[in-house]
Amino acid sequence: MKITVVGTGYVGLVSGTCFAETGNNVTCVDIDVNKVKKLSNGEVTIYEPGLEKLFERNLKEGRLHFTTDLEEGIADAKVIFLALPTPPGEDGSADLSYILGVADKLGKILKDYKVIVDKSTVPVGTAEKVTAAIAKHAKVEFDVVSNPEFLREGVAVEDFMKPDRVVIGTSSERARKIMGDLYAPYVRQGNPVIYMDEKSAELTKYAANSFLATKISFMNEIAILCEKLGADVDMVRRGIGSDDRIGKRFLFPGIGYGGSCFPKDVQALVKSSEEVAYDFRILNAVMDVNEKQKLFLMPKIFNYFNNDLKGKHFALWGLAFKPNTDDIREAPALYLIDELTKAGATVSVFDPEAMNNVKGVVGDKVTYAEHQYECLDNADALIIATEWSVFRTPDFDQISGTLKNKVIFDGRNLFEVSRMKELGFHYESVGRLA
Ligand code: UGA
Repeated sequence: MKITVVGTGYVGLVSGTCFAETGNNVTCVDIDVNKVKKLSNGEVTIYEPGLEKLFERNLKEGRLHFTTDLEEGIADAKVIFLALPTPPGEDGSADLSYILGVADKLGKILKDYKVIVDKSTVPVGTAEKVTAAIAKHAKVEFDVVSNPEFLREGVAVEDFMKPDRVVIGTSSERARKIMGDLYAPYVRQGNPVIYMDEKSAELTKYAANSFLATKISFMNEIAILCEKLGADVDMVRRGIGSDDRIGKRFLFPGIGYGGSCFPKDVQALVKSSEEVAYDFRILNAVMDVNEKQKLFLMPKIFNYFNNDLKGKHFALWGLAFKPNTDDIREAPALYLIDELTKAGATVSVFDPEAMNNVKGVVGDKVTYAEHQYECLDNADALIIATEWSVFRTPDFDQISGTLKNKVIFDGRNLFEVSRMKELGFHYESVGRLA
């Protein structure tokens, strides 16, 4: 099938590449001339494990094309995916100007029937708005479908190729058939394609992310309670997670969720609720808990150093909001850097992928280590903010030998508390028995 993906950001590029992988002919359109040049020359513009190989192959075999020209890009396409940014506006609601701008242009240039698909995360009612924007000028028939993505950064290719489910929101039989054919190769193992109306599909995406964020904030509060009551959150997590109704996943406490999705989507759903005069109390609490959780380690650090961090030096491992990505949006590490430096401490940082992105945001406020162990030089303590695999089984002798004090504050519960005790570390983590 010939398809077009408008927007070559994270979702657009992963979707376009993965659609090409099953034999579709994909044209990706973007207004960024530089990006289109880079992509056409075989340069992958985002970090995502497994993407490069697929990208190179499909580009070489002629199934992936890039252009800045929307009219040329959609010429022979049957389906047009809109994978455009929906940044939060000042009031927290999703800004639809990119999507509606492209919809307006599409209306003017459509020459034959097309299925236009909202792939971006968009508030309930957007398919209607996109339909209206296209219809204003369109002289041909078209259908607008809501098809939210459920890709996780770091495993997006796998999530796309073998989705748990595909949600397709449309009231058109014609569009339903085309979308079903397009996704058939991805659900061969029997995972469901769930058809529904447009609004339900739009809400499904927000409900999924908000529910997962709720699970995390809930566990983060349970972890706080564990510390106060003398219980161990690892035990409680395992105790409740083996109940199928609760599930084992997304029950790991830590120093808060980050990234470009959960914070933005929870906020946008609260905003949508407000617009229909509903106060979504649980989600307000989820956001509130998460804001506080990002600084969960700070009182522990202050306490250990007698409330005085002036002149102290910290090693910080992990800057990305989670492992296997260079994404630092809403990353807890940034909040920690801010608090530590405000308190008069200096910080040396290390991350396997996100160093350049952090340099762009915090500049010379911190020093950048070449290596995770070099980062420990002269540090009074090590702080861990992201659970990268390389941090999971470190050389503890080297850590002991390099740190000034054998002190670790671990925001991701990477090590066994008993082991750390044996090794003679002062070790503090999240919600576990000391
Ligand atoms: C999330 C969803 O998982 C995807 O399904 C969705 O498609 C995507 O948002 C999106 O809307 O585009 P992502 O933001 O890439 O994906 O990251 P996750 O792996 O879901 O992690 C989110 C945050 O939750 C991270 O900060 C992570 O550290 C935190 N987390 C996750 C916990 O604190 N505890 C857990 O048990 C799990």
